Amino acid sequence: MTTIDLPLLPLGKGRDLDAERGVECPGDLPAPSDPDLVARAEAAKAALGERLFVLGHHYQRDEVIQFADVTGDSFKLAREAAARPAAEFIVFCGVHFMAESADILTNDSQKVVLPDLGAGCSMADMARLGQVEDAWDALAEAGVIDQVVPITYMNSSADIKAFCGRNGGAVCTSSNAEVALEWAFAQKDDAKIFFFPDQHLGRNTAVLELGFSLDDCVVWNPHRPNGGLTVEQIRAARMILWQGHCSVHGRFSADVVDELRVAHPGITVMVHPECTHEVVTRADLVGSTEFIIKTIEAAEPGTSWAIGTELNLVKRLADAHPDKNIVFLDRNVCYCSTMNRIDLPHLVWALENLVAGNVVNQITVDVETEKWAKVALQRMLDLPGKTSKD
Ligand code: 13P
Ligand code: SF4
Repeated sequence: MTTIDLPLLPLGKGRDLDAERGVECPGDLPAPSDPDLVARAEAAKAALGERLFVLGHHYQRDEVIQFADVTGDSFKLAREAAARPAAEFIVFCGVHFMAESADILTNDSQKVVLPDLGAGCSMADMARLGQVEDAWDALAEAGVIDQVVPITYMNSSADIKAFCGRNGGAVCTSSNAEVALEWAFAQKDDAKIFFFPDQHLGRNTAVLELGFSLDDCVVWNPHRPNGGLTVEQIRAARMILWQGHCSVHGRFSADVVDELRVAHPGITVMVHPECTHEVVTRADLVGSTEFIIKTIEAAEPGTSWAIGTELNLVKRLADAHPDKNIVFLDRNVCYCSTMNRIDLPHLVWALENLVAGNVVNQITVDVETEKWAKVALQRMLDLPGKTSKD
């Protein structure tokens, strides 16, 4: 039998610099084994003082989240970034699309830094501007374009947000998807929503929160002509869902929900709306990371919970609430690999460079994209009320 030699390429610096997209770190990246990393991060933060604001998404590692001035889901972090006009540097411990949103919402003199440029999002990468523009043209051909309102999940690139801004749409997050869809349906007579890139958040919100049926939803496959749909299907649909998904939440399975209920009678199953419709309908509660945290904080001691979201957050919740029985919803789902790219060596590297006067890994969105993406983000921030799941 012939064996094919497929060595696991070392990540980062090493034999194949192209193994990771854009992650070369000018200067020296501290070794993960450096015992002074925590002290170095503390010293760099102290030296930068009020000039620095560190944002940390809930899925970040413990070693990084300890240095966040504020933690939150993507909605809360977008609001926090917008509310810090005095901070010269916003260091974003999260992924690329979040840093882009921070750059859009902060003023021109502020600099947003992503400690590792390899921290992208596979879901955001599933909707490219060219594909979305082609789909838009196909909807025009089908004669429905005047009814369509585009809504993009926060987990999308800035140019997709700008596309929505230019075309009368908005951004939403998992905290406010219900309110955003209600807003969108009110924008046009007999409106249809074109929802990118997460089909699951779109479907779960439309069906479970707004009362649409599964038949009202169709999936647009960007790799097939006309999205793989007939003109009749497009005309009949109320929700056109982009065929994208989260590679972490998409792995939770409904079988495990059933098994856990047998193994732990009385357990409450709580999942993120990026999970499949099958998983979400089997769960007791569904909501954003911020909703999950608040629910656990308010839970009675002695209660049992199975949580379906990223593992760093679930482990942190279990550690912070030893009086509650908190288990991870699945044996096979692991961390979000791109969120985990932000580790303490990269954070120390970014902070020490700022102290030395070098702005590394700055995330900037071009002026035209920023203008329209801001329109879409502002429509989200202006949505009525608070949020459905806050
Ligand atoms: P929220 O922060 O909106 O809960 O989204 C989860 C997520 O997958 C972020 O990448
Ligand atoms: Fe993207 Fe999913 Fe990771 Fe969030 S958890 S950054 S949606 S891949």
